[in-house]
Amino acid sequence: MTTRTTDGSAGDVHHGTVGTDHSSYRRPDERIARFVAEALGDSRTVLNVGAGAGSYESAGHTVTAVEPSESMRAQRHARLTRAIDAVAEHLPFADGEFDAAMTLFSVHQWSDARLGLRELRRVTRGPVVVLTCDPTLVRDFWLYRYAPEVLDTESRRYPPLADVTAALGGTGTVQTVPIPLDCTDGFNEAYYGRPEMLLDPAARQACSAWSFVDDRVREHFDTSLRRDLDSGAWDEEFGHLRGQPTYDGSLVIVRATR
Ligand SMILES: C[S@@+](CC[C@H](N)C(=O)[O-])C[C@H]1O[C@@H](n2cnc3c(N)ncnc32)[C@H](O)[C@@H]1O
Repeated sequence: MTTRTTDGSAGDVHHGTVGTDHSSYRRPDERIARFVAEALGDSRTVLNVGAGAGSYESAGHTVTAVEPSESMRAQRHARLTRAIDAVAEHLPFADGEFDAAMTLFSVHQWSDARLGLRELRRVTRGPVVVLTCDPTLVRDFWLYRYAPEVLDTESRRYPPLADVTAALGGTGTVQTVPIPLDCTDGFNEAYYGRPEMLLDPAARQACSAWSFVDDRVREHFDTSLRRDLDSGAWDEEFGHLRGQPTYDGSLVIVRATR
């Protein structure tokens, strides 16, 4: 069953507490946007579930946005359509109502990913597009050295990709999305070549996994990363990433058609 917090948040994060500055750090990245646009193809009507502040919604589509958290809905730009207050697990739409559906950086927060994905499939005639992370790759990132608890949490939250494609049925493809060095969408791996950015508590706050760990973990991360940056140890081992144009990490786009 989906439970809702005071601001309506329906997943494992209370966005009324952690999400108030989300859109400053999580700005849509135009290179990732191209992957999303390509996956949606020439669909006209697009449902965006867990729409948040409206990242990756394109003026080229007629978008219907679903977002349970009031504080996330309040961060939507005035030019965007108002989001409907509903949850993925119970979508208030008819079967096959939309040409396409997308859910981006959201499915790991849902109380029942399988049920939510089946709902997206039910209300969509064409492709269902899921931007998510492969839980088997999450811990391969250098951050694991400094804050293993954060990435252990992440790898538990993301549904296995086989479960995502199985819930969507039909024909599914999974594609790695290369992360640009100057990625404007500030999830953890977006800072692969800019480690100093993760020393900003507000940048960390915009990645929900950090809200599941306690101050001791945050303090250890801050102290040990600062120490390795000051001594040059981080650069000795990972410094090549500072000039690497893209990073193939755990970010993937799943596209399923009937
Ligand atoms: C990390 S944000 C991503 C927002 C947006 N898609 C983006 O790419 O910036 C995750 C969003 O999923 C929403 N969410 C969590 N649980 C949900 C559920 N059960 N149904 C629909 N949306 C949910 C949250 O409220 C939040 O806005």
